[in-house]
Amino acid sequence: MKSYKSDKKYLYADRKDKNHKGKFLMSMRFDISGGNLDSAGEASSTIKSKLKQLGIGYSIIRRVAIASYETEMNIVLHANRGTLSVYVAEDHIKIIAVDEGPGIPNVELAMQEGYSTATEQIREMGFGAGMGLPNMKKCSDQFEIHSDIGKGTKVMIVIFF
Ligand SMILES: Nc1ncnc2c1ncn2[C@@H]1O[C@H](COP(=O)(O)OP(=O)(O)OP(=O)(O)O)[C@@H](O)[C@H]1O
Ligand SMILES: [Mg+2]
Repeated sequence: MKSYKSDKKYLYADRKDKNHKGKFLMSMRFDISGGNLDSAGEASSTIKSKLKQLGIGYSIIRRVAIASYETEMNIVLHANRGTLSVYVAEDHIKIIAVDEGPGIPNVELAMQEGYSTATEQIREMGFGAGMGLPNMKKCSDQFEIHSDIGKGTKVMIVIFF
């Protein structure tokens, strides 16, 4: 398992690479379809393996993996479509999930552990415990959620190295 220290060393070494262009060490963007359970989880699994390839430490990867999986699943289960973007910077990873969908009427309520509007059918598939949003928040150093009813939801998560 790589330590916190070796994460930084790797990332700073990467920054000195004169071929590196742009502000981020790496960025990824995925289109997520609402309702498509067949490919659900693919984006977050790709994110996880790309971060492993970058040499990022396990504890950071674990937090990013949970946060990205839960945002991805919320788009699949609760929205029509969306994008999941991940930016790896010098000292942090940022996850941005934007969707078009019904929005969340009461964000404070939705943030509570155990609150879910998932149908019986979704619960039978093992989702709908109402733990996604609270778990994302727990994994984040910075967490923001904005929702417009009838339009969609945006989640922004920052995890520092
Ligand atoms: N992107 C979204 N668009 C619309 N509603 C959402 C979205 N994300 C969450 N919600 C609403 O907030 C509720 C709580 O979300 P949360 O992720 O905590 O639980 P869940 O998705 O229902 O269950 P779990 O994540 O444990 O499988 C959801 O049931 C849904 O009503
Ligand atoms: Mg969820």
